[in-house]
Amino acid sequence: MAQYPAWDQDEARSLIAGLAHLEGATLPILHALQEEFGYVDPQAVPLIAEALNQSRADVHGTISFYHDFRTAPPPRRVVKLCRAEACQALGCETLVEDLAREHGIVVDGHGGGHDAVVETVYCLGNCALGPSALSDGELIGRVDADRVAALCGGRQ
Ligand code: FES
Repeated sequence: MAQYPAWDQDEARSLIAGLAHLEGATLPILHALQEEFGYVDPQAVPLIAEALNQSRADVHGTISFYHDFRTAPPPRRVVKLCRAEACQALGCETLVEDLAREHGIVVDGHGGGHDAVVETVYCLGNCALGPSALSDGELIGRVDADRVAALCGGRQ
C-alpha cells in the first residue's frame, strides 16, 4: 500500500493556499490533503477554516459527512483474507474467530495495537490451498491465525 509522508503543517498550509481560490474549495482541499498525507489531520481544520473564512465546525462537519476522509493515518499494511466458499470449507471462519480471540484482530474492523488491517476478499484464485491470504502482493496459502497475525506485524 502507498507510503505517505508524515503530516507536515507547512506543507498542508501551502496545499490549502494553492486551492483556496476555487469555488467550493473545501472538498478539493480535503482530497488534496488526503492524497498527499493519506488522511486529513485534525490540525488542518483551523487552517482550512481560516483560509476559506468558514467556521471550524463547518469544516469539521464536511470532513465527518464524507466517509471517505480519514482523520488518522491509514494502516501501514492491509492483509487480504479470502472468505469465499472454498476457503470457508478449509476453515477460514475458524481462523477469523481465532484471530479475534487470540490476537485481538477483527477482520474488517481494526486490530488492537496493530498497525495493519485484515480485509475480507472473495477468492484469490488459490482455492485448493486455502485459507488464502494476500499480503504485500504475496499470495500465501494454508494460513492460520498465527500466520495472519504475523503478517500484520503482531505478536504470534
Ligand atoms: S475461495 Fe479462497 S482463494 Fe478461492
